[in-house]
Amino acid sequence: MDSSSRPTVYIETYGCQMNVSDSELMLGKLAASGYDAVDRPDGADVILVNTCAIRDHAEQRVIGRLGELRRFMGPHTVVGVTGCMAQRLGPQLLDKAKHVSLVIGPDGYRALPTLVEGARRGERAIATTFDLEEHYEDFAPRRFDRVKAWIPVQRGCDYKCTYCIVPTTRGPERSRRLAEVVREAHEVVADGMSEIVLLGQTVNSYDDGTHDFADLLRAVGAVPGVRRVRFTSPHPNDFSDRVVAAMAEVPSVCEHVHLPMQSGSTRILKRMLRRYTREGYFDCVARLRAAIPGLALTTDVIVGFPGETDEDFEETLSAVRELAFEDAFTFKFSPRDGTPATRMPASETVADEVASERLARLIDTVRTASRARNLRLLGSRHEVLVEKVARRGQELLQTRTRDFKTVLVPGDESMLGRYLTVELTGTTGSTFTGAVVRERQPLPMAG
Ligand code: SAH
Ligand code: SF4
Ligand code: F3S
Repeated sequence: MDSSSRPTVYIETYGCQMNVSDSELMLGKLAASGYDAVDRPDGADVILVNTCAIRDHAEQRVIGRLGELRRFMGPHTVVGVTGCMAQRLGPQLLDKAKHVSLVIGPDGYRALPTLVEGARRGERAIATTFDLEEHYEDFAPRRFDRVKAWIPVQRGCDYKCTYCIVPTTRGPERSRRLAEVVREAHEVVADGMSEIVLLGQTVNSYDDGTHDFADLLRAVGAVPGVRRVRFTSPHPNDFSDRVVAAMAEVPSVCEHVHLPMQSGSTRILKRMLRRYTREGYFDCVARLRAAIPGLALTTDVIVGFPGETDEDFEETLSAVRELAFEDAFTFKFSPRDGTPATRMPASETVADEVASERLARLIDTVRTASRARNLRLLGSRHEVLVEKVARRGQELLQTRTRDFKTVLVPGDESMLGRYLTVELTGTTGSTFTGAVVRERQPLPMAG
């Protein structure tokens, strides 16, 4: 068959890295079924929107975008909604968006080629059944990133944080078999990548029935050619001594942990059902820092959770100051239908102006501290991995230190995937500029 006659698929991804990884699996599956991936919606035979339901804002963006995508549709274009919003809204999406013919949740991608074929014949379909065995092991992901590989190791979530929609949209937690993860690690090294990011909603609770997350870190770290191992997102309660020891002992595990805190107030943490106290979180940080010198920490924080008082919020600010996070993703609480937080008394709702004001103070606290710390780092030297071209046409590369700092250095596309030693020469507050001191010797590839 002439390749130009193959049907084309365009996919747009919202939400977390798990969704990016799922999009890679979907494109791989469709490529194996005869579709060519394209990077623009105009003229695509199939348009997929892989969605996020975490906050109302995320859903509103998708709804707006679905409307916009209409103008790229020809008479036979198929539009499908996949991911967490598809799972959450199911039939409502087909009712509300008449131009959408497919609604497929995170466990339904195995049927994607069949469902797309049906849709091209004019059928409309919904696939939102959870499948606790599903890890898409036989799919060959078509990766977007050439330098680092996202490898899902766990799907779903068994925590039930009272604000969170994820257990509803992704179902119960299940882990892939360790041998399958290691197989995929070998494949990505053979494809020229040397950094691996292990993915799961509470990734360090990984348990395949035989192996825990400590075993997994050691096994992935032992794959020849893997120079950097990261993982996201861990839960503070799942850092067993075994996991912390593995992090400290496996040389490729990077000195950075993204450790969602959510709140610095024990009272609010309890209402969130996070299952740790302020002291428990501080203790977890102390254990990690004691085991891993130079560890950088980033976090997620929610403000305006129902019942959050000024005192509770002050505790969040003091935790952010005391724990010296490198960076924080900060969110205003967004009520999600069906979650326990929406059933808390209306009198406890935090007014939007109050939440906005808290958010601004929180962001300012995070930035002020990280700017001061970053200024002190000027002149120091670091190993960085070249991740991508920062801005086209500007001969500027985005590189990353092991502890997750972004450093912009001069260079061109041919340097993607290489390791360099750089000296930090300037900072905007959050990111750095750097000068290349020397190029690291590439390690021999495995295989
Ligand atoms: N599984 C990860 C987080 C997944 S969601 C974990 O437990 O750490 C990413 C972040 O979105 C969360 O850490 C939380 O800070 C934020 N978030 C989740 N639900 C939210 C909601 N209803 N409103 C505001 N922020 C929310
Ligand atoms: Fe949501 Fe909590 Fe599960 Fe994270 S651990 S995905 S915040 S329920
Ligand atoms: Fe969003 Fe689903 Fe991820 S709700 S954050 S895409 S798990």
